[in-house]
Amino acid sequence: MHRLPEQGVGWAELEQQMQAAKAKDVDWVNGRAAVYIHYAGDDVLEVAKKAYQMFFSENGLGLRAFHSLAKFESEVVGMGLSLLNGGNAGRGAMTTGGTESIFLAVKAARDWARQARPVTGTPEILLARTAHPAFDKAAHFLGLHTVRVPVGADFTADVEAMRGAVTPQTVMVVGSAPAYPHGVVDPIAALAALATEKNLWMHVDACVGGYIAPFAKKLGAPIADFDFAVSGVTSISADLHKYGYTAKGASTLFFRDADAFGFMAYDFDNWPRGRYLTNTLVGTRPGGAIAAAWAVMNYLGEAGYLRVTERILATRRAHEEGLRKLGLTIWGRPELGILAYGSETHDIRAIGERLASKGWLVGYLTEPMGIHLMLNLTHEPVVDAYLADVAWAIRTADKPITTAHAATY
Ligand SMILES: Cc1ncc(COP(=O)(O)O)c(C=O)c1O
Repeated sequence: MHRLPEQGVGWAELEQQMQAAKAKDVDWVNGRAAVYIHYAGDDVLEVAKKAYQMFFSENGLGLRAFHSLAKFESEVVGMGLSLLNGGNAGRGAMTTGGTESIFLAVKAARDWARQARPVTGTPEILLARTAHPAFDKAAHFLGLHTVRVPVGADFTADVEAMRGAVTPQTVMVVGSAPAYPHGVVDPIAALAALATEKNLWMHVDACVGGYIAPFAKKLGAPIADFDFAVSGVTSISADLHKYGYTAKGASTLFFRDADAFGFMAYDFDNWPRGRYLTNTLVGTRPGGAIAAAWAVMNYLGEAGYLRVTERILATRRAHEEGLRKLGLTIWGRPELGILAYGSETHDIRAIGERLASKGWLVGYLTEPMGIHLMLNLTHEPVVDAYLADVAWAIRTADKPITTAHAATY
């Protein structure tokens, strides 16, 4: 068992040990990881790090003490709401990530339903098969069930099938913009219409798309309205630590109005230390993540986000074109930074294993079998290298791997 050292270790030694520990990590800086990382340039990273460090010790639980963080959070929420057509009635808060935002959206929907449309038995969340597992996790913790419905041939939510799955217990409908597996946006307007018709809470999971889709739309990408511009949408989750390019530990959860927002909070005062009222699941919140979000959003501004988005979309298109030329199939019609591809002639796992042997971190899709990529600016300079390795992997897919370094991730 690893034990606390008896005597403290100096920073120089610790730094060395940590550098050594990093040595076997995936080389994300050189674009080898199309997951986990959202990079928009060294300058953006520097701003995020400096801002994080300035507010490293401050705690977002104590907004009465840290007026700075209260201002940052309020302005971040304002910027997010304005990007997502929130209007003056819109409300929201920062959370520590997509899972927390989704957890709180489910909690809000559950509490709303208890008040506005109580059901007998376990309340249900209706969602497409491609929605993120965070909904199941939240449902598990909060005493709801999820009902996952198969998607259509284009991998987006099948609204008619979802209509058929509505039961007297259904309280919430979810659409993703985009869903993580294929990177395609669900038909949000049709789902919201279904929600309105059946008096259900409609949540849009824009954890991945919230801070890239608005800019892609402005750049002319044919993305249908997916935010509060669609009537019937009650809440939206949008992660800053993904395509907002801020420090990890930052997401936003938005509500159409103050009434819906009211269901997010938890209010308690039956203990000796007075009232404990929090909007979030967590208590202590990293001041650094709140500050870094504010700093990065202001540093990039609309022009900066447009520039980065344009480059990421071009990088995705370059992958699509190159992969198609190699005879591979792109699953669905990806619209943002995610794409997934498979092969009708080759074993995609064999291709993936070869890519892994060259140092690429490979993420697999299982329905249909494929390889998943979530792209950022680290991938821009390595498109050709990636495609060359895919071409090599296809050529050698039937032979045993001979490369010295086997996959370690
Ligand atoms: C669509 C979608 N929703 C939610 C999440 C969960 O976000 P987090 O990992 O920040 O909790 C993810 C993560 O990739 C996602 O892709």
